Amino acid sequence: MERPVTIEADLAVVGAGGAGLYTALTAAAAGARVALISATPLAESSSYWAQGGLAAALAIDDSPGRHLEDTIVTGRGTVRRSAAEVLTEEAPAIVRDLERLGVHFDVDRHGRMSLGLEGGHSVRRIVHAGGSATGRRVSRQLSALAAEHARIDVMEGCRATAVLTHDGRAAGVRLHDGRLVLARAVVLATGGAAAMWARSTNPVGSTGSGMLLAERAGAALADLEMVQFHPTAVAGVDGADSFLVTEAVRGEGALLLDADGERFVDELSPRDEVARAVARKMLETGAPSVGLDMRAVDPALFPNVVSVLRRAGLDPARDLIPVAPAAHYMMGGIATDLDGRATLPALYAVGECACTGLHGANRLASNSLSECFVFGRRAALAALDEPALTAVPEPPPGSPPPRLTAASREALWRDAGIERDAEGLSGLLHDDHPLVRLLAASALAREESRGAHQRRDFPMLDPALDGNHTVVA
Ligand code: SIN
Repeated sequence: MERPVTIEADLAVVGAGGAGLYTALTAAAAGARVALISATPLAESSSYWAQGGLAAALAIDDSPGRHLEDTIVTGRGTVRRSAAEVLTEEAPAIVRDLERLGVHFDVDRHGRMSLGLEGGHSVRRIVHAGGSATGRRVSRQLSALAAEHARIDVMEGCRATAVLTHDGRAAGVRLHDGRLVLARAVVLATGGAAAMWARSTNPVGSTGSGMLLAERAGAALADLEMVQFHPTAVAGVDGADSFLVTEAVRGEGALLLDADGERFVDELSPRDEVARAVARKMLETGAPSVGLDMRAVDPALFPNVVSVLRRAGLDPARDLIPVAPAAHYMMGGIATDLDGRATLPALYAVGECACTGLHGANRLASNSLSECFVFGRRAALAALDEPALTAVPEPPPGSPPPRLTAASREALWRDAGIERDAEGLSGLLHDDHPLVRLLAASALAREESRGAHQRRDFPMLDPALDGNHTVVA
């Protein structure tokens, strides 16, 4: 049989969102040859669409310790403290490093970095670039640097279909066209899985591909039941359906109103509480959405939100914006240590596909972009210490995972949404898609309500499960 074409690198990085790009750039700066594998053209990832900014303790009245406390309280008793310490201590230096790489963060009229406020943060600590276009600005800048870097081979339009293993360790990846990328370490930076739900803020490709690649190669996944629902995605508006209206607008005074024009929740509570309050209000009144009142917010602060809404026929200076929850972010994913190491040697995961335990049961707003860079850097440096390959691995048998059907997406929305119970979840155990089955099994195993995981049949938090993580191995 003809041997497949092979490509050699020190590191194979799969995924070119914020986490993948920064991992690749860090490794290349340390002298490594990197294959950066991206299914989409560079700068079309989830990070590209991210409207939130980076959370970092930069204000005079802030500190990593205060950021840590907010992260822990919001995570509802399951945050892995060591991971949150790493994030909160290293995030300020990451912001400075991104500036060094050419990202221009927004400044106030005195030239100081502007700091935004979002739910669960006790002080202003979110940095943005171009207001709500932060993901776009950062991704564009890092993409340009990666494309120009002599030691980064950007492989656009390539999908990884398997992690290669040899001698009990990762050894590269197989591509959709059969080519093999051989590397001393593989870093998965493939993003999350929230597009598996019928109503989602994510781009369509966010269906957990990296989680399945890791699981098939023998790595453990953790906390898959922890899926964050964002409370304010546009609902029922052609041309803007599921479009996320950033939480930062509530930090600037936007309100949530019911059909009688009454407030029903503290808009700056952590995200799980606000999403649940919106869902309950909709159930109670039968309305398909609640109103987001941005009339008191300066539109100049959120130019791309305002322009999307205006294109869809809504004027935020005059109209209430109809919003409802949508699946937004996976707290669970490939179980890793503090350097991004998965349980399979030489396999790493960073960004939303990873589960460091940092977010617990409810991620603090804007910790995710910070996480991409903090843990991307650590993973790049750790991966370079992996020993070189000593043999060419055999490509594994097996086909790529089945496509996610509309029926599976509807079933997840119905049976594994903001509230779930054993009856609905048990039905998902028979779904055609393997990740749906793993999600359902994790959600069934956690017999309590905590953060983003709310069980109708177990409505109380069980203190005995504090610090407990659901592992699929
Ligand atoms: C938002 O801006 O509301 C979303 C950002 C995030 O998920 O942290």
